[in-house]
Amino acid sequence: MVAVDADRPDRTALREPAAALRDGGLVAFPTETVYGLGADATSVRAVRRIFAAKGRPADNPLIVHVASPDHAWALVATVTPLARALAAEHWPGPLTLVLDAAELPAETTGGLTTVGVRIPAHPVALALLEEAGVPVAAPSANLSGRPSPTTAAHVLDDLGDVVDWVVDGGPARVGVESTVVDARGRRPVVLREGGIPREVLAAHDREPSAPTSPAEPHRSPGTRYAHYQPRCRVDIAPQGAAVRRSAELAAAGLRVGLVAPHPAPTGVRQVARPDSTPALAALLFTALREAEAAGVDVVVVEAVPEEGLGRAVMDRLRRAAAD
Ligand code: TXA
Ligand code: MG
Repeated sequence: MVAVDADRPDRTALREPAAALRDGGLVAFPTETVYGLGADATSVRAVRRIFAAKGRPADNPLIVHVASPDHAWALVATVTPLARALAAEHWPGPLTLVLDAAELPAETTGGLTTVGVRIPAHPVALALLEEAGVPVAAPSANLSGRPSPTTAAHVLDDLGDVVDWVVDGGPARVGVESTVVDARGRRPVVLREGGIPREVLAAHDREPSAPTSPAEPHRSPGTRYAHYQPRCRVDIAPQGAAVRRSAELAAAGLRVGLVAPHPAPTGVRQVARPDSTPALAALLFTALREAEAAGVDVVVVEAVPEEGLGRAVMDRLRRAAAD
């Protein structure tokens, strides 16, 4: 493991992890969303190691991370005007653009003809990517099905035995993953909710008069699988109802944790007290892991309005709570 300053990372400290990436190694690194488990996207062997380490289904494609738009465009067959516009506005940032892929291993693209590319908004990730000089395929650095990691400690808990390097750049700022957008057409199609709200992307819709599509016409392959689940139950309470709900569960004899903007009642453990939707996004995965570590039977999380970043938060929460 190597720890670097989140804002001004020491380049020399990143040389060895960068060399490991070029040599086919597995390197976990911070991004603004969550920690990624990186490997050379052009190396079949390196990418296979990612799937083996995570226990990830082979048909779930990886996002390829690069440090500049030119490096991103080198990975795709066609750069659409929509992709250029979205990149100009949101890169570096929590936005993954899905485009027709150029030559890339089928292991990286999950056998699809498209590829997801993104430039992360994190000085450590950018420095590492520049230093490595190869495109880096990186899913979230958790075991498949577990909450995504927002600190280096989470990565070590899940994958400490199998990674070659963990670059510690402090806690992830956004806390939910990138928004995945199909940018092949004239309008952005959201495949996974994430750090850039859907409402923000609507400004790029060039076909306002097109027939409205069903609510969820397409989804990313990864959204099909069980995900984000800690080893305790997750209970979503409507806004304003979490405290009472947690008290009821405690009265029924359960060990209960609470994630809500209000103080926990007697007999309930306060796991986190987020006072806004961005605050909940930033600490949600940490809170799920802390609830699990505290040995609670159930963690009650208070819902947030399903708008803006709240869409991504509620998506993660529902899948954490699913059976
Ligand atoms: O913020 C993030 O996106 C983080 C950081 C590390 O960059 N990465 C991440 O990767 O969340 P992962 O593998 O945990 O989730 C990637 C999601 C999956 O749902 C996958 O199916 C989808 O993106 N995806 C990747 N490439 C795709 C493609 N070509 N078409 C459709 N969906 C794609
Ligand atoms: Mg993931």
